[in-house]
Amino acid sequence: MNIGVIGCGNISDTYFESQKIFNNLNIIACADLIKDLADQKASQYNIKSQSVDELLKNEDVDLILNLTIPSAHKEIIIRSLESGKNCYSEKPLAINFSEGLEIQKISQNNNLFVGCAPDTFLGAAGQKARELIEKNTIGKIVLGTFNIMSHGMEDWHPNPDFFFKPGAGPVFDLGVYYITQLINLNGPIKNVNALSGTASNERIITSKARFGEKITVETPTTLIGTLEFHNNSKIQFFCSWDVWKHKHSFIELYGLDGSIIIPDPNFFSGNILLSDKNNEWKKINNDKMLLGLPNKIDNDGIKIANYRGIGLSEMINSIKKNNKPRCSLDLSLHVLEVMEGIIKSSETKTEINIITKPDRPEFLDEEEIVKLKS
Ligand SMILES: NC(=O)c1ccc[n+]([C@@H]2O[C@H](COP(=O)([O-])OP(=O)(O)OC[C@H]3O[C@@H](n4cnc5c(N)ncnc54)[C@H](O)[C@@H]3O)[C@@H](O)[C@H]2O)c1
Repeated sequence: MNIGVIGCGNISDTYFESQKIFNNLNIIACADLIKDLADQKASQYNIKSQSVDELLKNEDVDLILNLTIPSAHKEIIIRSLESGKNCYSEKPLAINFSEGLEIQKISQNNNLFVGCAPDTFLGAAGQKARELIEKNTIGKIVLGTFNIMSHGMEDWHPNPDFFFKPGAGPVFDLGVYYITQLINLNGPIKNVNALSGTASNERIITSKARFGEKITVETPTTLIGTLEFHNNSKIQFFCSWDVWKHKHSFIELYGLDGSIIIPDPNFFSGNILLSDKNNEWKKINNDKMLLGLPNKIDNDGIKIANYRGIGLSEMINSIKKNNKPRCSLDLSLHVLEVMEGIIKSSETKTEINIITKPDRPEFLDEEEIVKLKS
């Protein structure tokens, strides 16, 4: 299957590089609204630079990899489907649930697949945690927490405007990893309750290229609330870009027989902590698993596992077998409905019931991963 990339910004190199990690990724062309960017990536990776229209008409392209900003996701996904191409999109699927439903309808009518990031839940930490939970190590999950707190994105991203517009903010931009991971571990969500706040209506860019420019904040930068799952467990969350420092852990789940602490679901690996009732924490390392082996160095010089692209690789494999991909449209539509529900609940001060109820994505075992790795 040949891939065409639309959107050649910050995250695109990670996907171009993932062709070295997975054996079924073959990017043959790219496009961007900014032609220079597409030309630059095309020459760097020895592929064709095209306009968006040309790329969508390119008969050699079977699948569009949508790496545009969230507000463009729906348009690019739908145009891909209408051009007879499958589409894998960066997260979130779209900026609201009704856009997501439109995508679902066109995907079904055209009999084409849509897949969506995040794929980090397929990493070593997510799959190991799932195995531990399925082995009943903490018993039935009844409660939990997740926490995303920092002071925002304007200090590192070259064009951080979109983070503060509808379709981003701490829930749509980062909560998406946590909510997806929780559905992987704990099943679908039944209803949500939330409160919101915005500490500053304006952000000042401190990353290099546009240092000093101002961004008007158009989506809440703090959302606090609860998720109730179909298994009746209740999970409290705190998502904020208004906090400088804190000491909460990323995800904690409490079962009838013990507790588990899961590392940042924006990453593929990291130690899991497990306790049997109130005994000492036991550290569960997963960096020997295939999607936990360190393969990159981060900005702080630390070795990390980054296997972004596994979702796309697994989707291509699933399309060939006519199976539902792990990073499925159903899953991302549910996550989108939950994220929109969080914003809606904070605006209306009411509980929002969630209507979508996907199955949990199937467990991804090492045997299957071996077949996808180069
Ligand atoms: N940057 C990261 O670390 C990161 C990590 C994970 C996921 N993501 C997700 O990836 C997506 C892209 O993020 P980014 O950081 O690369 O953003 P970016 O702003 O750096 O790049 C987006 C690119 O898309 C292009 N674009 C926008 N609308 C377009 C359209 N209609 N047609 C063609 N091109 C269009 C822009 O010109 C830009 O070059 C977002 O959905 C983001 O949430 C980013």
